[in-house]
Amino acid sequence: LADLANARNVDPKKYLVGLGLRQISVPGPREDSVSMAATAGRKVLQQADVSPDKVGLLIVGTETPVDKSKPVATHVHDLLGISSTCRVYDIVHACIGGTYGVTAALDWLRGNDRYALVIASDIASYEMETVAEPTQGAGAVAILLSNEPRLLQLREINAFSSHVYDFWKPLDLEYPVVDGVYSGQCYLEAVQQCFSYVKVSPNAAFAYHTPFPKLVRHAHREVVNIMGEIEDFEQHCERCLAPSLEYPSRIGNIYTASLWLALASIFGVHHKHSTGDIRDAFDCCCLFSYGSGCGAQLLEGAFTEQTSDWSRQLEMSAVLDNRRVLRVEQYEALRAGTYAQTDDVYAPGTYFLKEIKEHKRYYVCSGE
Ligand code: CAA
Repeated sequence: LADLANARNVDPKKYLVGLGLRQISVPGPREDSVSMAATAGRKVLQQADVSPDKVGLLIVGTETPVDKSKPVATHVHDLLGISSTCRVYDIVHACIGGTYGVTAALDWLRGNDRYALVIASDIASYEMETVAEPTQGAGAVAILLSNEPRLLQLREINAFSSHVYDFWKPLDLEYPVVDGVYSGQCYLEAVQQCFSYVKVSPNAAFAYHTPFPKLVRHAHREVVNIMGEIEDFEQHCERCLAPSLEYPSRIGNIYTASLWLALASIFGVHHKHSTGDIRDAFDCCCLFSYGSGCGAQLLEGAFTEQTSDWSRQLEMSAVLDNRRVLRVEQYEALRAGTYAQTDDVYAPGTYFLKEIKEHKRYYVCSGE
């Protein structure tokens, strides 16, 4: 982002300190919300050692689909070989679609003993040379849910909705319309509404929808004021909030997947710096999700006996370190559609778009 700031004649500190972002991820020319969702979904099934035919519900949360009717989830269903006796659909509600998918899955699990797979997958793309450009990100997070959770036991604490025009995507426009300052105010209002009159442990690890880390710090100040009890805000932030900001500060805003990336970051940072059990460090995880328009949810994630063992797999600093670095000219060529890339750059297990024929999209998995 320092390179992008220089190219845009902006003080790099505005991006690095002012927004709290260090790097952003952009998709390769053959990657999209389908390919990223399938890559993440395949990985979570493999890591959890769960066969695709045990999945009875597949939801994709996305606000960057590849079709106005056919769900992203139908592609993922096919690519992952999930059985046909499965509910398969997308949820669209700006950045909260993935979280609404998770709570829909929690409801579904009350009457089902199979697995639910929820994948949040998005590419944030703004008009170039606008103030939102440095917040862009691309990525997917896959979440496997069952009645016997290994990583976290999730429950909804509160929800909030209000009809606002803070960030939206008219069908005839290529880029989102953003009322930037107002969108921050709407986010903070939703934080206030969700955290008021509920009990949250001040010793939780906090994860928020993270369009950029600075906004989350502002939000957390509100939350600390509501919770009371905390004497030193900076010290509290360093311990209970900063872990969730590490991966988002290296990827940017990934809309529906942003909160879940922040959660992964809590585990990843913990295991990078400590061999101890995460239950000795925090009481639980506290998760705030926000989608423009707007909707918000507050969830609690209680640790299980197995949390520390399973969450080790979320230490992903090497994956982030190994991304291909793009110069600003290459990024601009990518945006213009003139960046040449061959298939061999994709690591084994990564899906990518092979071709579009008669308006039908065909994907393959690298290494297969
Ligand atoms: N050194 C250090 N800090 C600097 C600086 C410098 N040289 N120059 C500016 N700053 C600081 C500012 O003081 C400000 O900090 P505070 O928040 O603490 O006041 C910060 O950098 C941001 O600067 P600006 O307020 O001038 O704002 P900006 O021009 O960077 O634009 C934005 C910010 C309007 C949010 C823009 O990034 C944007 O439009 N983003 C897209 C919308 C968005 O992400 N909204 C978030 C809420 S909506 C949501 O959550 C849904 C979603 O994901 C889209």
